Amino acid sequence: MLAKTNIIANDIDYYTNSNSNSIIYEITKNEVINYGKEINSRIIVVDEDGNVTIDSKEEFRGQEFEHKEINSALKGKNISNAYNFKEYGHLLYTSVPLIINGKIEGAVLTSTSIDNIFVRVNSIKNALYWISFLSVIFVAIISFILANIFSKPIQKFTNVILNMARGNLNQRVEIHSNDEFNQLANAFNIMSTKLDQVDIQRKDFVANVSHELRTPLSSIKLLSESLLHQDTVDEKVYKEFLSDIDSEIDRLNNIIDDLLSLVDLDKEKLNLNYKVTYINHLLEKIISRLKPISEEKNIELNYIEKAKIQLNIDKNKIQQAIINIIHNAIKYTHENGNVDVILYSDNKNAIIEIKDNGIGIPEKDLEHIFERFYRVDKARTRNTGGTGLGLSIANQIITLHQGNIEVKSEINKGTKFYIKLPLDNNVSLD
Ligand SMILES: Nc1ncnc2c1ncn2[C@@H]1O[C@H](COP(=O)(O)OP(=O)(O)O)[C@@H](O)[C@H]1O
Ligand SMILES: [Mg+2]
Repeated sequence: MLAKTNIIANDIDYYTNSNSNSIIYEITKNEVINYGKEINSRIIVVDEDGNVTIDSKEEFRGQEFEHKEINSALKGKNISNAYNFKEYGHLLYTSVPLIINGKIEGAVLTSTSIDNIFVRVNSIKNALYWISFLSVIFVAIISFILANIFSKPIQKFTNVILNMARGNLNQRVEIHSNDEFNQLANAFNIMSTKLDQVDIQRKDFVANVSHELRTPLSSIKLLSESLLHQDTVDEKVYKEFLSDIDSEIDRLNNIIDDLLSLVDLDKEKLNLNYKVTYINHLLEKIISRLKPISEEKNIELNYIEKAKIQLNIDKNKIQQAIINIIHNAIKYTHENGNVDVILYSDNKNAIIEIKDNGIGIPEKDLEHIFERFYRVDKARTRNTGGTGLGLSIANQIITLHQGNIEVKSEINKGTKFYIKLPLDNNVSLD
């Protein structure tokens, strides 16, 4: 409306002047009346004193017009206000100054009914109320449905978790939907299966440890009781029994040492003392340490070096692992046998091969020999003084170094262990 009012103000010219020529006045007046019809508004033009010079309804001509909007326009302002009158309804008053040759010579006021706009605004308002109302109901229904869909599986989960907390670790969640809940349930089931396994392993381990400790203890008890219950004992028998007791105590000590190193390994997982080390030197040292043991059985212990390899390792731990395996090779090989320790590399790993021509390991036992306390022949190993923990310790150490141990064996022909340790940046090969 401001733009339209300005257009009229621009069109009107000199006629506002009181002396103006009546023909020009008539032409201008008709123009204003026509334009008023065109834009559906009443148009009033006043002179600088506020006297009406043109009224498109031809009612107020010549009268002085006191009007808020016109007064503002006479002061040079464009202004527009909406009113709601009882008799006329909603009206929009728009007024602009009439500027001729840079001077305010009067003002133009347009008054337009905006009832139809209000009707439209009201119907939009009503529609909005309805839309909001229906949305609220719709959202409420959807939330109710979703809450049901989500809360059911969560309820299931909660029950299962509470059951697990009570110690029933073999719990599984059954959710057969096709969404994230299903994924979560699967992940949860994998975790609970794992927990269950760990729990079973722990119980087995405790049972095994108790059993292993009890055996030497019962021997000691038996030996000491039989000494106590005899009135007169030969000194030779005394000595013999005492030396048996002594070796059972050694056995207990070995078991406890091995158990402690297993516990340490569990604890120290992230705490290995890595140093760049020549595996060659380490092997030489180990061989010379084990030579006396092999010589007792007249076993030829050879070290064959096919490469010089540096690795970033915890030297003491790796030494313990290698000793355990070479020691086994000597232990499970007959007198006059051979044990070869060979160092080489494929391009990814340093490989330490320990090859014996001893008694071998039956196929069915191969997959178990790394388990804690597992021994192929319990009776025989008792004589050789093993704990059944050596390979388990070795395996854990090598695994901590990101390596692995492989084994090939043939009964009565011999066994080959391959300790593979990954070569890394710190490695030099020559
Ligand atoms: N070089 C080998 N030759 C034959 N059997 C072996 C050899 N190394 C390991 N074994 C078998 O694997 C079992 C587990 O070894 P280990 O964990 O070192 O326990 P142990 O204390 O009995 O030596 C041994 O009891 C033995 O039966
Ligand atoms: Mg052993």
